[in-house]
Amino acid sequence: MERTLIIIKPDAVQRGLSGEILRRFESRGLRIIGMKFMQVSRGLAEKHYDVHRERPFFASLVDYIISSPVIVIALEGTNAIQIARNTIGATNPAEAAAGTIRGDFAMEIGRNLVHGSDSVENGEIEVGNFFDDTELVSWERATDSWIFE
Ligand code: RTP
Ligand code: MG
Repeated sequence: MERTLIIIKPDAVQRGLSGEILRRFESRGLRIIGMKFMQVSRGLAEKHYDVHRERPFFASLVDYIISSPVIVIALEGTNAIQIARNTIGATNPAEAAAGTIRGDFAMEIGRNLVHGSDSVENGEIEVGNFFDDTELVSWERATDSWIFE
Protein backbone atom coordinates (compact mmCIF):
# COMPACT_ATOMS: atom_id res chain seq x y z
CA MET A 1 0.00 0.00 0.00
CA GLU A 2 1.28 3.47 -0.89
CA ARG A 3 0.54 6.62 1.08
CA THR A 4 -0.08 10.10 -0.30
CA LEU A 5 -0.51 13.45 1.41
CA ILE A 6 -3.39 15.48 0.03
CA ILE A 7 -3.75 19.16 0.92
CA ILE A 8 -7.06 20.85 0.16
CA LYS A 9 -5.47 24.26 -0.34
CA PRO A 10 -6.75 27.63 0.99
CA ASP A 11 -8.57 28.56 -2.25
CA ALA A 12 -10.51 25.26 -2.22
CA VAL A 13 -11.51 25.65 1.44
CA GLN A 14 -12.54 29.29 0.90
CA ARG A 15 -14.56 28.35 -2.18
CA GLY A 16 -16.46 25.62 -0.35
CA LEU A 17 -14.98 22.84 -2.51
CA SER A 18 -13.57 20.72 0.36
CA GLY A 19 -16.41 18.19 0.34
CA GLU A 20 -16.40 17.86 -3.46
CA ILE A 21 -12.64 17.27 -3.50
CA LEU A 22 -12.71 14.71 -0.67
CA ARG A 23 -15.63 12.96 -2.37
CA ARG A 24 -13.56 12.38 -5.52
CA PHE A 25 -10.70 10.67 -3.66
CA GLU A 26 -13.10 8.69 -1.49
CA SER A 27 -15.23 7.46 -4.37
CA ARG A 28 -12.10 6.60 -6.38
CA GLY A 29 -11.34 4.02 -3.68
CA LEU A 30 -8.50 5.59 -1.71
CA ARG A 31 -8.73 4.88 2.03
CA ILE A 32 -8.55 7.75 4.52
CA ILE A 33 -6.05 7.12 7.33
CA GLY A 34 -5.75 10.69 8.67
CA MET A 35 -7.49 14.04 8.26
CA LYS A 36 -7.40 17.44 9.95
CA PHE A 37 -8.32 21.10 9.48
CA MET A 38 -5.32 23.31 10.22
CA GLN A 39 -3.45 26.54 9.66
CA VAL A 40 -0.05 25.70 8.11
CA SER A 41 2.84 27.59 9.75
CA ARG A 42 5.45 29.32 7.59
CA GLY A 43 8.07 26.86 8.86
CA LEU A 44 6.06 23.80 7.86
CA ALA A 45 5.20 25.37 4.47
CA GLU A 46 8.88 26.06 3.74
CA LYS A 47 9.77 22.48 4.71
CA HIS A 48 6.97 21.04 2.56
CA TYR A 49 8.00 23.08 -0.49
CA ASP A 50 11.78 22.90 0.16
CA VAL A 51 12.39 21.27 -3.27
CA HIS A 52 11.06 24.51 -4.87
CA ARG A 53 13.20 26.84 -2.69
CA GLU A 54 15.27 28.15 -5.62
CA ARG A 55 12.31 28.61 -7.97
CA PRO A 56 11.01 32.16 -8.65
CA PHE A 57 7.53 31.25 -7.41
CA PHE A 58 8.71 29.90 -4.02
CA ALA A 59 7.73 32.96 -1.95
CA SER A 60 4.27 33.26 -3.49
CA LEU A 61 3.77 29.50 -3.12
CA VAL A 62 4.52 29.63 0.61
CA ASP A 63 2.35 32.75 1.06
CA TYR A 64 -0.51 30.98 -0.75
CA ILE A 65 -0.44 27.81 1.35
CA ILE A 66 -0.36 29.77 4.65
CA SER A 67 -2.88 32.41 3.57
CA SER A 68 -5.90 30.66 5.13
CA PRO A 69 -6.69 27.24 6.67
CA VAL A 70 -6.32 23.97 4.77
CA ILE A 71 -7.51 20.40 5.19
CA VAL A 72 -4.75 17.79 5.13
CA ILE A 73 -5.61 14.18 4.37
CA ALA A 74 -3.46 11.06 4.43
CA LEU A 75 -4.69 8.47 1.95
CA GLU A 76 -3.66 4.88 1.42
CA GLY A 77 -4.11 2.48 -1.49
CA THR A 78 -2.45 0.46 -4.23
CA ASN A 79 -0.71 2.97 -6.54
CA ALA A 80 -2.07 5.79 -4.33
CA ILE A 81 0.48 8.32 -5.63
CA GLN A 82 -0.35 7.96 -9.32
CA ILE A 83 -4.07 7.49 -8.77
CA ALA A 84 -4.34 10.64 -6.63
CA ARG A 85 -2.31 12.70 -9.12
CA ASN A 86 -4.49 11.52 -12.01
CA THR A 87 -7.58 12.46 -10.01
CA ILE A 88 -6.05 15.91 -9.32
CA GLY A 89 -4.98 16.68 -12.92
CA ALA A 90 -2.10 18.65 -14.45
CA THR A 91 -0.31 21.30 -12.34
CA ASN A 92 -1.50 24.09 -14.65
CA PRO A 93 -5.32 23.96 -14.63
CA ALA A 94 -5.34 25.31 -18.20
CA GLU A 95 -3.78 21.99 -19.23
CA ALA A 96 -5.73 19.77 -16.84
CA ALA A 97 -8.16 17.33 -18.43
CA ALA A 98 -11.87 17.79 -17.85
CA GLY A 99 -12.99 15.29 -15.22
CA THR A 100 -9.97 16.01 -13.00
CA ILE A 101 -10.29 18.28 -9.95
CA ARG A 102 -8.17 21.04 -11.50
CA GLY A 103 -9.75 20.52 -14.92
CA ASP A 104 -13.23 20.95 -13.50
CA PHE A 105 -12.75 23.67 -10.86
CA ALA A 106 -9.54 25.69 -11.37
CA MET A 107 -8.19 28.35 -13.74
CA GLU A 108 -4.61 29.28 -12.76
CA ILE A 109 -1.42 27.49 -11.59
CA GLY A 110 -1.15 29.57 -8.42
CA ARG A 111 -4.74 28.71 -7.45
CA ASN A 112 -4.81 25.02 -8.30
CA LEU A 113 -6.84 23.87 -5.28
CA VAL A 114 -5.09 20.71 -4.18
CA HIS A 115 -1.71 19.10 -3.48
CA GLY A 116 -0.82 15.43 -3.93
CA SER A 117 2.56 13.79 -3.19
CA ASP A 118 4.68 13.12 -6.30
CA SER A 119 6.52 9.89 -5.35
CA VAL A 120 6.24 6.96 -2.96
CA GLU A 121 9.19 8.29 -0.95
CA ASN A 122 7.76 11.82 -0.73
CA GLY A 123 4.34 10.43 0.21
CA GLU A 124 5.87 8.82 3.32
CA ILE A 125 7.90 11.94 4.16
CA GLU A 126 5.01 14.38 3.67
CA VAL A 127 2.51 12.29 5.67
CA GLY A 128 5.13 12.24 8.46
CA ASN A 129 5.62 16.02 8.24
CA PHE A 130 1.92 16.74 8.69
CA PHE A 131 0.73 13.92 10.99
CA ASP A 132 1.93 12.40 14.28
CA ASP A 133 1.73 8.60 14.41
CA THR A 134 -1.14 8.94 16.91
CA GLU A 135 -3.17 10.86 14.31
CA LEU A 136 -3.00 8.06 11.73
CA VAL A 137 -5.49 5.21 11.94
CA SER A 138 -4.81 1.73 10.65
CA TRP A 139 -8.16 0.16 9.80
CA GLU A 140 -9.89 -2.23 7.46
CA ARG A 141 -12.75 -0.80 5.43
CA ALA A 142 -15.79 -3.03 4.87
CA THR A 143 -15.49 -2.39 1.11
CA ASP A 144 -11.72 -3.06 0.83
CA SER A 145 -12.10 -6.48 -0.79
CA TRP A 146 -14.34 -4.92 -3.47
CA ILE A 147 -11.75 -2.22 -4.24
CA PHE A 148 -8.39 -3.99 -3.68
CA GLU A 149 -8.03 -7.43 -5.30
P1 RTP B 1 1.38 20.04 -5.91
O1 RTP B 1 2.79 19.82 -5.42
O2 RTP B 1 0.73 21.27 -5.33
O3 RTP B 1 0.54 18.82 -5.83
O4 RTP B 1 1.43 20.38 -7.46
P2 RTP B 1 2.31 19.70 -8.56
O5 RTP B 1 3.09 18.54 -8.02
O6 RTP B 1 1.38 19.46 -9.70
O7 RTP B 1 3.29 20.88 -8.94
P3 RTP B 1 4.77 21.21 -8.38
O8 RTP B 1 5.69 21.25 -9.54
O9 RTP B 1 5.12 20.35 -7.22
O10 RTP B 1 4.57 22.70 -7.88
C1 RTP B 1 4.03 22.95 -6.60
C2 RTP B 1 3.07 24.09 -6.70
O11 RTP B 1 3.79 25.28 -7.04
C3 RTP B 1 2.96 26.13 -7.84
N1 RTP B 1 3.66 26.40 -9.08
N2 RTP B 1 3.70 27.57 -9.62
N3 RTP B 1 4.25 29.75 -11.32
C4 RTP B 1 4.70 28.56 -11.65
O12 RTP B 1 5.32 28.34 -12.65
C5 RTP B 1 4.41 27.45 -10.74
N4 RTP B 1 4.82 26.21 -10.89
C6 RTP B 1 4.34 25.53 -9.82
C7 RTP B 1 1.66 25.39 -8.08
O13 RTP B 1 0.69 25.86 -7.12
C8 RTP B 1 2.00 23.95 -7.79
O14 RTP B 1 0.88 23.22 -7.35
MG1 MG C 1 4.31 18.72 -6.33
